[in-house]
Amino acid sequence: MTKQRNEAEKKLEQIKADILNKNVCPDLAQGANQLVMGHGNPCADIVFIGEAPGKNEDMQGIPFVGSAGKLLDEMLTTINLQRNDVYITNIVKYRPPSNRDPSTDEKKEFWPYLMKELDVIRPKVIATLGRHSMEYFLPGQKIGAVHGQPKRIRINFGNTQTAGGLTVDAMQDADEQRTESYQKYDEEVADSATQKRATSEGSVSSSARKQDFTSVIILPLYHPAVALYNRGLRQTLFDDFMAVPEIIKKLNLEN
Ligand code: URA
Repeated sequence: MTKQRNEAEKKLEQIKADILNKNVCPDLAQGANQLVMGHGNPCADIVFIGEAPGKNEDMQGIPFVGSAGKLLDEMLTTINLQRNDVYITNIVKYRPPSNRDPSTDEKKEFWPYLMKELDVIRPKVIATLGRHSMEYFLPGQKIGAVHGQPKRIRINFGNTQTAGGLTVDAMQDADEQRTESYQKYDEEVADSATQKRATSEGSVSSSARKQDFTSVIILPLYHPAVALYNRGLRQTLFDDFMAVPEIIKKLNLEN
């Protein structure tokens, strides 16, 4: 194990300890078997973010190990990746009762910890699985309209104070400046817009600096659970997944 990976794993363990010590979402915690943190390679270029653990995840303590996870594994195999090449996590890290959707408050409570997790991993690509994680990174977008279309955003991983993109202003602002496809993206314009938004939210100091923002590709994907029983969506998800190697190839050429 490399030193870098070791250090990243230690930091992720600390985030887990913080969630437990701060007693995040106590009601959810009480009904769940355990906290389900992210899993995989903490130095991965790509992170997949789902919504919340289900029954199998709650039993095993690992995200995406049920039927949706098997489909995710299958999709990874089609692009010659394995779980250990990527990092897989959820916004909400306790299983909601009866697998209900996580609430806005639950997502808000866990958001700072997701940002801390991403700050450790520093992925180049974030693939959101379903609308719950997509709405934070591409606020105002509809999964049916944007699935499979990579977008480049600039993100301040150090800003863990608020649930980014949750305020109405932020959503409108982000909606205007985040909808370019990543090929066409104008970094300078988006950079100043993102800084303006962050500052007006009061979520980072008014001295939010350009270097605090990192360029990341967001790939919005349907949630694999939705595709399980819908053949059409399943094919769409597999087709959308093919964007992953293309994005990685493009990013490697850029670097
Ligand atoms: N669905 C999710 O969103 N996350 C999991 O970990 C499993 C199913």
